[in-house]
Amino acid sequence: MALKVQASAPSNIALIKYMGKSSISANLPANSSLSYTLENLRTFVEVEERLGASEGGDIWEPLSGWPPLELSSKGSDKFLSHFARLKEMWGLTGAYVLRSANNFPSDCGLASSASSFAALTRAAFEMARAKNQAPLSLPTQELARLSRLGSGSSCRSFFSPWCLWSGETVSGPPFPLRLRHAVVVVEESKKEVSSSEAHQRVQTSLLYEGRERRAEMRLQRLMKILSLSDLNQRAWREGMEILWSEFWDMHALFETSEPSFGYLNERSLRVLNRLRTVWRETGDGPWITMDAGPNVHLLLRQEQTSKASSWLSGFQVLRDWNES
Ligand code: DP6
Repeated sequence: MALKVQASAPSNIALIKYMGKSSISANLPANSSLSYTLENLRTFVEVEERLGASEGGDIWEPLSGWPPLELSSKGSDKFLSHFARLKEMWGLTGAYVLRSANNFPSDCGLASSASSFAALTRAAFEMARAKNQAPLSLPTQELARLSRLGSGSSCRSFFSPWCLWSGETVSGPPFPLRLRHAVVVVEESKKEVSSSEAHQRVQTSLLYEGRERRAEMRLQRLMKILSLSDLNQRAWREGMEILWSEFWDMHALFETSEPSFGYLNERSLRVLNRLRTVWRETGDGPWITMDAGPNVHLLLRQEQTSKASSWLSGFQVLRDWNES
């Protein structure tokens, strides 16, 4: 009978961004990044043996039972070649079918390479173990390192809720703060410039010089805030300022690259303005950040969730709490 294994992994959102690589082939980052793990936004991967298929006959298909996932041929090639790398590493032979799905709509511009590559790495490891071809257990750090080779940001999905990634090292710092997450979905179409491409293009920007230092300085300031056992309003506001300048730094690099590119649209700006007004009028608000896309991510303190509905009224929002 054909062996079949399953695994899942969460997505993550970077507060200090991974943008720019010191090694393209090994996905080593130019600067350290810090993320919060999004346990509710997950990818599920199933790996099944294709008995009778010839060696090298690996294929990808959507996993049924979830919102149907579409992968571009580039996307499925990247997925299959990461699997091929893991097979080679663990001496896994035979042909397999990889099935994957996200537990959120795949057309909402959130499709996450972090959760997919982390889940694939876990599932491939389960298959190699089931066939006695991988060590019975591997340190999380090592699985994260292997996953990084497929897609950099996926290495941060192995630690929760906080993850710090610096060069070859990935760890889960024990910051006491627990946050809620919401994302305002403002566009549903696919990206024109992938993040892998963005990592290379930003190096053409005249603003790229000093990027590493700016990111590291923000990281140090933010980690100080996150280490506080009792976060006061002043520290929360300072955190917001750090996240705000960090994502604008990244988007400014995009816009000043040659050729230039960008992800923000009118609706992104409308959301950002609305949230800025909340801060201005009430002296409080969410932490705000953006990835290489037009959607706006919010991180909130637990007690802010009830207010968030009014901040976000009229927008399409995916949140990790139930509205009462
Ligand atoms: C903007 O991990 O998708 O989301 O390593 O080339 O696969 P590759 O890139 P990827 O880059 C993510 C960049 C980002 C910021 C971040 O998550 O830190």
